[in-house]
Amino acid sequence: MDFQFNQDQLMMQKMVRDFVQEEIVPIAMQTDETHEFPLETIHKMGELGLMGIPIPEGHGGAGADFLSYILAIEEIAKGCASTAVILAVHTSVGTFPILYFGTEEQKQKYLPKLASGKFIGAFALTEANAGSDASSLQTTAVRKGDHYILNGTKRFITNAGYADVYLVMASTDRAKGPHGVTSFLVDKDTPGFKVGKKEEKMGLNGSATCELIFEDAMVPVENLLGAEGQGFKVAMSLLDGGRIGIGAQALGIAEAALEAALAYSQERVQFKQAIGNFQGIQFMLSDMATQIEAAKLLVYQAASLRMAGLPYGKQASMAKMFASDTAVKVTADAVQIFGGYGYCKEYKVERYMRDAKITQIYEGTNQIQRIVIAKHLRA
Ligand code: CAA
Repeated sequence: MDFQFNQDQLMMQKMVRDFVQEEIVPIAMQTDETHEFPLETIHKMGELGLMGIPIPEGHGGAGADFLSYILAIEEIAKGCASTAVILAVHTSVGTFPILYFGTEEQKQKYLPKLASGKFIGAFALTEANAGSDASSLQTTAVRKGDHYILNGTKRFITNAGYADVYLVMASTDRAKGPHGVTSFLVDKDTPGFKVGKKEEKMGLNGSATCELIFEDAMVPVENLLGAEGQGFKVAMSLLDGGRIGIGAQALGIAEAALEAALAYSQERVQFKQAIGNFQGIQFMLSDMATQIEAAKLLVYQAASLRMAGLPYGKQASMAKMFASDTAVKVTADAVQIFGGYGYCKEYKVERYMRDAKITQIYEGTNQIQRIVIAKHLRA
């Protein structure tokens, strides 16, 4: 497989890298401290076309390929992992569902707004008792005339409170399990729908994570996405692509940690010389760089398979799992190289370590990725 990026992909990478240096790096630490959603940055990203990178131009997007989008997530995550996940969720599981499964009316109504960043998208599958076991969700949708009436509570929803439209999975027939799950586009001002408690998290503080509460929420029939009973497959197929994005996010965090640790190892003097002169540190840096390189190949391979229209679910899970494990290991080692300073908020490596942890958990824990990989191996 050839990973020489083409001119368009390189231009996207360069543009995003510059944007990250100018607009994201200067506020990343503040975003982490204040827990403020970086709305102004998201608007600027919209103006640059970053909120609709892989969405066709005919629908208001940039019309770039999936690998360009993955490179953009990676670059953004180097500066701020929260901003990266806002974009990843907005695109992979907030906008793609309408592009792939929406009616012509739904596409016309939502895609230009989502692709330009005027709207932010979100994805609501998880519930208090339905995390890894996603198909056991309890939110119900009952048809009454020209509306579905939704009742239930979603948990840990990224972009909640800032999103304009939510893809919500609810059961239209509990007896059918996964085959009774249906997906809906829920507008933020839907009667009976509100955003609940905001989570205080270990990291990823700029990303809003909240409950969604549905109390006889009235969703018009035209907001059904796909057919009744198809919602679980819709969600699973979206997550296949989403997991490549999380792999790219993890990769970006790991790369930023390696860069910081390498620079520090050349400046920090102990025993009358830079600590980078010691093999103990060199071995750590070599392992970090090698793991990152391997994670890169998995992430880019999964993205390339997806672009080629080939099966990619197994590789997406491998990429997400390996890149997130790499991010956790590499960021912890970066803190170790920084020593006591690494444990202090003044230095950004502790943020990288806190932000990295969630990449092993969301869009399917790494244990779930192993289940998915094993299913592919045994098929
Ligand atoms: N694509 C299309 N269809 C799929 C699919 C896929 N990738 N995976 C499964 N399906 C289909 C199956 O074919 C099956 O249909 P048939 O019976 O017609 O063949 C149906 O869906 C049910 O599949 P399973 O029997 O495999 O379902 P399961 O209940 O055993 O669950 C699971 C499988 C892999 C454990 C799944 O529940 C899962 O992925 N869990 C993790 C959930 C998750 O990733 N949550 C993330 C939340 S979103 C998030 O984190 C976003 C964020 O904020 C950052």
